[in-house]
Amino acid sequence: MSETIPDVMAPPGIAAFFQGWQLYQSIIQNNGMEHREIGEALRCVFEALPHRFSVLDLGCGDSSMAMKSLEGLSVSSYTGVDLTAPALDIARANFHGSYSATWVHANMVDYIANVDQPLDVIMTSFAMHHLPAATKQAWLVDIAKHLTPTGQLVLIDTCCPAGLSRDETVQSYLDLIADWPLSDADKASIAAHMWSSDYPESEAFMEGALAAAGLTHRMIYKHTQGLQVGYLCQPTAR
Ligand SMILES: C[S@@+](CC[C@H](N)C(=O)[O-])C[C@H]1O[C@@H](n2cnc3c(N)ncnc32)[C@H](O)[C@@H]1O
Repeated sequence: MSETIPDVMAPPGIAAFFQGWQLYQSIIQNNGMEHREIGEALRCVFEALPHRFSVLDLGCGDSSMAMKSLEGLSVSSYTGVDLTAPALDIARANFHGSYSATWVHANMVDYIANVDQPLDVIMTSFAMHHLPAATKQAWLVDIAKHLTPTGQLVLIDTCCPAGLSRDETVQSYLDLIADWPLSDADKASIAAHMWSSDYPESEAFMEGALAAAGLTHRMIYKHTQGLQVGYLCQPTAR
């Protein structure tokens, strides 16, 4: 199934960079951002769920990590939301699950504000850092409102290691990318995208924003240099 919400608001630079999905796909395939380790952490979370569960994936991209982590599990429905139409086309083409799956071409901030049913799992990986700080906080509040009482949020994102500013963090990331098996043109394209569109936050910011949204959290993944983190979060009042 597919659906398009009209008047998609594309923040400048983000949609344009991801239109050429092949570059990001090659980063995933080379495990440059540790999708393999993150996928294993997701799998542990999903395997521990006690009943059939619905999944909303915000900023899903080509849904490849979600699809792999959900394989063979008791999923009632999966909805992926993203601004990048070519990534959604790849997700649809590669889907072989036995549950109902829908992809929506929309801004994840607008989408969650208008969801009309509670969800068992909301996941988001490497998308939140594109939002301004105040929008990140408001978005987490909206997400928390749309979880069932026993629902879970899995939040994966890039992160400023303790003591590093946003610019120092972007530079540290680019130092890592220097060793990735990519052409100089591709590395330059990633650098331009990161400088214009990536706004990772500190662990303290993310943990404060989760608490303010009424979510308790547990860290389920951390990059060796602290440049990426993953949290499993649940509504505080149970
Ligand atoms: C780095 S990719 C991550 C894709 C996938 N979740 C993963 O972990 O590989 C970031 C994705 O977020 C999407 N994105 C960024 N801002 C968005 C927004 N405001 N609404 C919907 N999608 C957004 C981009 O189009 C892109 O597909």
